[in-house]
Amino acid sequence: MIITIDGPAAAGKGTLASNLSKKYGYAYFDTGMVYRAVGLEMHLQNKDMTDEDSALKIAQNLTFEHMHELAKNPDFRSALGGKNASIVSAYPAVRAALLKMQQDFALHPVFADGTPAKGVVYDGRDTGTVVCPQAEVKFFITASPEVRAERRYKEFLQKGIKTSYEEVLADVKARDERDSNRATAPMKPAADAVIFDTSSLTIQEVTNKACEVIDAKKK
Ligand code: C5P
Repeated sequence: MIITIDGPAAAGKGTLASNLSKKYGYAYFDTGMVYRAVGLEMHLQNKDMTDEDSALKIAQNLTFEHMHELAKNPDFRSALGGKNASIVSAYPAVRAALLKMQQDFALHPVFADGTPAKGVVYDGRDTGTVVCPQAEVKFFITASPEVRAERRYKEFLQKGIKTSYEEVLADVKARDERDSNRATAPMKPAADAVIFDTSSLTIQEVTNKACEVIDAKKK
């Protein structure tokens, strides 16, 4: 089974994806990683994020292994890492170059240790619309920008990253704007997606609702 979870930053996609992959024994592909990897590699090579040609070359040469290596860098998950990922992800050629790698994972999903899995949970912005339009179950998870900024701000504080709530809120809004209005694969719910607004739901409540949808589909 293929399950996709799309939606804006800090809506709770990652936690839901991780809960679902554990419960059903499915592999998990966090597709934001491919764009974060290209953005970080650009940064490490001192390239300007507006240098589309360099971003494309990096995307064309990106391997799964190198992506996981880059993920060990503290800048991979930082606010700057998210911003840079969002900039390079708006280039249509970069998205096209990274598509096959994301789609191929569903053909042979594997856990982190390489063991094969019977299904996969994707999370991202366009996994139900572009990466895996054939997915059996699709979710679109959202929450107000203020609630998402509050969650992200707390995460940064826990990780010891210095920032302010206002800065995080501005970043969340800027990313929403870029991700929703880009010409290629803009963030939007698939026509057959189940939409959850998690502003006033706990992650356990969201997980329970998602499991009901999946279990009904499996019957
Ligand atoms: O989900 P995450 O915050 O790691 O994503 C980083 C950025 O990568 C997003 O802001 C978005 O611009 C881009 N992205 C995308 N399509 C995806 C996943 C992420 O454009 N499927």
